[in-house]
Amino acid sequence: MSAKIPPANLRHDRLEIKNLVMVRGTKPVTQAIELSIAPASITALMGANGAGKTSTVLGISGVIEPAFGEIWLDGVDMVGMDADEIRRRGVATVPEGHQVLRELTVRDNLLVAGGSLSRGEVNASIERTVELFPELKEKLQQAAGDLSGGQQQMVAIAQALIVTPRFLVIDELSFGLAPTIVARLVPVIRRIAASGIGVLLIEQFTQLALALAHHVYVMSRGSVSYDGEPGKLRDDPDILHRAYFPVSGRESVGL
Ligand SMILES: Nc1ncnc2c1ncn2[C@@H]1O[C@H](COP(=O)(O)OP(=O)(O)OP(=O)(O)O)[C@@H](O)[C@H]1O
Ligand SMILES: [Mg+2]
Repeated sequence: MSAKIPPANLRHDRLEIKNLVMVRGTKPVTQAIELSIAPASITALMGANGAGKTSTVLGISGVIEPAFGEIWLDGVDMVGMDADEIRRRGVATVPEGHQVLRELTVRDNLLVAGGSLSRGEVNASIERTVELFPELKEKLQQAAGDLSGGQQQMVAIAQALIVTPRFLVIDELSFGLAPTIVARLVPVIRRIAASGIGVLLIEQFTQLALALAHHVYVMSRGSVSYDGEPGKLRDDPDILHRAYFPVSGRESVGL
């Protein structure tokens, strides 16, 4: 565990990312990312293909150790902890692309996600979680691979919720899903946040992110180019346009 002294300006009820640098291969793909994720609210992280959103998520979730920077929760810097430890501390991640165990039933997917919980605890947690997704309630005994893409995304979100996290990171909520399915997920995400969980929503579909989020970050070529209210981006689409189509000729960051 880190013995670092937290910075004086740290907000202890938040998940705070400071100066995060992620390296893929030998290339730095983010530079000095700063994010502050509040409990009981939805924070969106948007940006064009290759902006560095997933790399940031992999750093936060402990799948790839950041090359530099800090990830603070409860006054502890979690950089260097493995993914299980970070999840135990309350940060759960839904990875890109509805990653479910296709051969297993929906219930078994949720049991596996329960990990260290007792059987009783995990069953109670499954009951609570499927209340959010009545569709899944009827499909608990079906193989997850037989479900539609939208239902698989629900299973992936339910898996992350089984351990009752305090922060939930969702990489590409809407990816590959029909608009009607996405519309079905919107109230669920709102309910999750209303229950007290701080949601970090990574989203390319800007309308969805702007409709849902209380606070928005936009990444552009590895850096945060906007940090503020969603309303300003709705009123001034040029800000987003510049972030998605930067005019600079630089091909990569940090080189
Ligand atoms: N496994 C990898 N090895 C090397 N470079 C990678 C790897 N994965 C991603 N990158 C590079 O890292 C940079 C950031 O990619 P990342 O996947 O984090 O972006 P993203 O914002 O999530 O994009 P998308 O919208 O396509 O999901 C890109 O330049 C990408 O080519
Ligand atoms: Mg991505």
